[in-house]
Amino acid sequence: MSSRRTFLQHLGLGLSLPSIAGFSFPQEKRPPFPSSSIQDEAYWKAIKGQFPLTADRIYLNNGTFGPAPFSVLEALQKSSLDINTSGEYGNSDAERVQLAQFFGIKPSEFSITHNTTEGINILAWGIPLQAGDEVILTTHEHAGNALPWLNRAKYSGIVLRTFEPKETQAKNLNEIQKLINSNTKVIAIPHVTCTTGLVFPIQEICSLAKLRGILTAIDGAHGAGTFNLDLTAMGCDFYAGCFHKWMLGPSGTAFLYVREESLEKLRPVMIGGHSDTGWDMTSTPPTLAGYVPSARRFDYGTQSKALAVGMVAATEFHTQIGKDRVETRLQTLNQYLLDGLLELNNKLDILTPLEKESRIALLTFRPKNMPYQVCGDELGKAGFRIRQVPEGKVNAIRVSTHVYNTKEEVDAFLAALTRILS
Ligand SMILES: Cc1ncc(COP(=O)(O)O)c(C=O)c1O
Repeated sequence: MSSRRTFLQHLGLGLSLPSIAGFSFPQEKRPPFPSSSIQDEAYWKAIKGQFPLTADRIYLNNGTFGPAPFSVLEALQKSSLDINTSGEYGNSDAERVQLAQFFGIKPSEFSITHNTTEGINILAWGIPLQAGDEVILTTHEHAGNALPWLNRAKYSGIVLRTFEPKETQAKNLNEIQKLINSNTKVIAIPHVTCTTGLVFPIQEICSLAKLRGILTAIDGAHGAGTFNLDLTAMGCDFYAGCFHKWMLGPSGTAFLYVREESLEKLRPVMIGGHSDTGWDMTSTPPTLAGYVPSARRFDYGTQSKALAVGMVAATEFHTQIGKDRVETRLQTLNQYLLDGLLELNNKLDILTPLEKESRIALLTFRPKNMPYQVCGDELGKAGFRIRQVPEGKVNAIRVSTHVYNTKEEVDAFLAALTRILS
């Protein structure tokens, strides 16, 4: 008999679905969620046990893909099974309420999307702009924030003004200030860059933008699930985030936050059932009465209830640990890794700012004596999943750590890196 069981058997459901055939997990039962009274590394090792992550290698690439814990996979599979058993596909109204609450916003400000890029496209096309209007971005954008705005510029003649991120929050605020002029209509920067994991002072930037009548459209791919986010307090008009990175939710899940006061500033370019307040194709001419008075207008077509249920399970996982405790752990691990990298500073250049406020859970470095691709490949062979960063011509290696990583893993990574660079 196989030493591995199907995931549903693992969950005690004793069934296997064709859609998940091929998935199997180690035989051990999922350990109970650790008591919050367990301290230090013992707690985080127990948290690691909540993930089906393979022990064959050390995963340090949460910035690209956040593996989900068992509880999320279980919720996803159960909902999927329920829906496909009953044929009742429901809607995500109840989930929207819980999801919005997690980010400190109203359900009417929360649109469910499939990835960050979708949210950014809704913004890039939805904000009314004319030829000559300016949008501020950085030179360190991910394709997901660069391409939608480049595409809008190609069609509409808007001007993209970029700045190279600097090493402190004060300097970055200053860079943005310098770029603002009477044509500036939008600041469309990331909360955290994908290249070096640099954190921008979004709250201050949003205050500045508001004073100047500029809209803020933040790429929050690395903000949701790293920080204990309160989007209302942050003050941005729009925030496109995802659940498949730091939220540790299902792949293909994301959201767009649209501040209530900014709702009417965003044209709903793509709409569908439930976006509207009425439509009639039998009248002459056919009519669209209007849009629902909420960010629900930006959802369209069939949505997956099971994915929404999985998103809620992800928020519950974060809440169970404690959103503050997650943020603090990410900072602690980031500092621990940084301290180790600093000891190797004759062999590498650290590109992530050293300023504490300017980093959260990603660290990027460039080897001094070896092409970054060679170093990255060697790390891969040694059993570490990292990300190589060509964006912005950064040409470096990015390491990202989340709650399932331990200090022991960071030590192992540093030992391997030392060997590779020596
Ligand atoms: C800063 C940043 N923005 C946008 C994206 C695109 O995210 P998604 O795949 O959810 O569209 C990424 C993905 O890595 C990213 O790092």
